[in-house]
Amino acid sequence: MTGLLANEIASIGGTDVRAAYRVVYFCASKEVAYKVHLHSRLANRICRVLKEIPAQSPTIIFDKAKKIRFHELFSERQAISIHVVAANDGSKIPNHLIGSKLREAINDCFQHHLEITPNQSARDAAIGITGYFHNKRLLVSVDTSFEGLHKRGFRVAGHPAPLSETLAAALLAVCEYDGTMSFFDPMCGSGTIAVEAAQIATHRASQIHRKKGGFGFEYLHDFDSRLWQNIQDQARAAEVPAKVKIFASDIEPQFVEIAQKTITKAQLETVVQLETKDFFNTEKPAERGLLLANIPYGLRMTGKDVSAEFLRTIGDHLKNHFKGWRCGILAPASSPLKEIGLKPQKKVPFMNGDFPVKLIIFDIY
Ligand SMILES: C[S@@+](CC[C@H](N)C(=O)[O-])C[C@H]1O[C@@H](n2cnc3c(N)ncnc32)[C@H](O)[C@@H]1O
Repeated sequence: MTGLLANEIASIGGTDVRAAYRVVYFCASKEVAYKVHLHSRLANRICRVLKEIPAQSPTIIFDKAKKIRFHELFSERQAISIHVVAANDGSKIPNHLIGSKLREAINDCFQHHLEITPNQSARDAAIGITGYFHNKRLLVSVDTSFEGLHKRGFRVAGHPAPLSETLAAALLAVCEYDGTMSFFDPMCGSGTIAVEAAQIATHRASQIHRKKGGFGFEYLHDFDSRLWQNIQDQARAAEVPAKVKIFASDIEPQFVEIAQKTITKAQLETVVQLETKDFFNTEKPAERGLLLANIPYGLRMTGKDVSAEFLRTIGDHLKNHFKGWRCGILAPASSPLKEIGLKPQKKVPFMNGDFPVKLIIFDIY
């Protein structure tokens, strides 16, 4: 996933892009940074690194962090939330203690430079300070995304197992979907993957729905509102009518209803064609295209593992009815995937939340 994200960031204009454990580091001008926030489909959060400091003890963290010029970054009136995460090499200092040292350091900085005490509340905070502990060092950043970037603004609740939008986008990226061919999700549930595909087909920026004040960077002293407005205007002007149709269906009428509401909320009703149908009664809706299905599994959907029989019937149906199509199936990594009976072009592991899954891709000839 970080490799895909690194490619996406580089394609938007990020430089010195480096993928690491669950993070991608990059450099960007303010313009590119704003564009990454607006256009990235794969990033969950974006943080601006302020400083990396040694972190062998709480005292060292305080001494080093208080030298960060927080007062030049944001106003003392802003509520600040502090979030500490430790990489897999772990920290012996508890996260809450690292967090309280960071808050003390912010207080000290405002007192020292401006002789004022900053807002002590964390409620409804627009400023998020993140401490990422790794290898006895602490990377101190400000979260410029505000809300998680997986939020696309049109999720309708009600499906027991919706995919995250960023995972849906990653599946499409692995299948190299660029919006120029037909797309079909025959087990669409709430419609997450189909809507993501429709956004790609219409060149819609993933975060264009966010209102004024929707990003953390808008609360920083160096926010350039004119530049931000121009970038959003350019993104709106770059939207195009889809040249292909996006198809989606599900066997359960109540899920199709949720998908319909989602598609309407996303204003993609003219792009996505939806119906209630059993996958095993579907035919390819165009000569060529991409089929992607997140098949039912696990406690929230079926209460059981994916059976060999189910995978076999899926494979047979793809073989007999989807010639000329690229097909991707997302299933638990532990399921007997060989039973599909088709030779995979690619197998890509992902985590669906805490659950290991695999995307297997077949070109059907
Ligand atoms: C894991 S969910 C898909 C969730 C979806 N990706 C989302 O983001 O909401 C699997 C879906 O497959 C549907 N399904 C199960 N058997 C089916 C069949 N034979 N034909 C069509 N859909 C089926 C279920 O109703 C369920 O909505």
